[in-house]
Amino acid sequence: MAYTAMQELATQVFYLRAAHVCQDEDPMLARALRRVARDEVLHMAFYRDAVKAHLEVSGGERGGCGVRHQRCAIAGAAAEIEHQGRRLLALGCEAVLITNAAGSLRREMGPGALMAVTDHISFIPGNPLIGPNDDAYGPRFPALEDAYDPALRALLQRAAARLNVTLNEGVYAGCLGPSFETPAEIRAYAKLGADAVGMSTVPETIVARHCGLRVAAVSVITNLAAGMSDEKLSHEQTLSAAGRAADTLTRLVIAFLEEYARTA
Ligand code: HPA
Repeated sequence: MAYTAMQELATQVFYLRAAHVCQDEDPMLARALRRVARDEVLHMAFYRDAVKAHLEVSGGERGGCGVRHQRCAIAGAAAEIEHQGRRLLALGCEAVLITNAAGSLRREMGPGALMAVTDHISFIPGNPLIGPNDDAYGPRFPALEDAYDPALRALLQRAAARLNVTLNEGVYAGCLGPSFETPAEIRAYAKLGADAVGMSTVPETIVARHCGLRVAAVSVITNLAAGMSDEKLSHEQTLSAAGRAADTLTRLVIAFLEEYARTA
């Protein structure tokens, strides 16, 4: 099954291996985790600018502290998403934070706004789990209630509050792309309960949830969706709006990682 979400800004997936990280018990490790997180955020900014199909995983020891880290911007076939999601698990990851660029279906949530994803509606044909199920990873028919972990979302909100940043919440409609939606489609999605629309995140979340990884996701609103403003949608417009929001998103991700490390 072809999956071409890389036509939009790269979905950035962060792998948080914080199972043994605890600020009080092991401050050195906690510090190292924060350093890794910062590096990862820089990588994220780089890849967001690059916007190219890529698939990268790096892992290893950092700072002599044994913090394994992984980063992976996902592109390509669903099978690759499946493979990478499971690799994360094998490496001891327990949670992923996905960021994406999205169009807003709510007028008051304009370009530059951030939205924590509470749920999704998939308009992406197929499913990354189609094919023989590997029971070692997860069940044949995985549930997707609470696909976007409420506890992780609470941490995101806590991080946002610390930074005085408004973090909206809403439902993400996942579309295949690479064409943008039509105004009629956007009106239909709004009626169905979507708050934002983008071309990624859904397959990654399905794969992650199937194998038991916890998921948090944040949409960077780069535009009002098709037909909602006079502005013409284009990839260039998406890029420039995402660039303007990058600093806030970066600070939010770092603050979230700090909150997350405290809970591990
Ligand atoms: N639609 C789909 N994907 C997007 C949009 C949009 O309006 N903006 C950024 N990614």
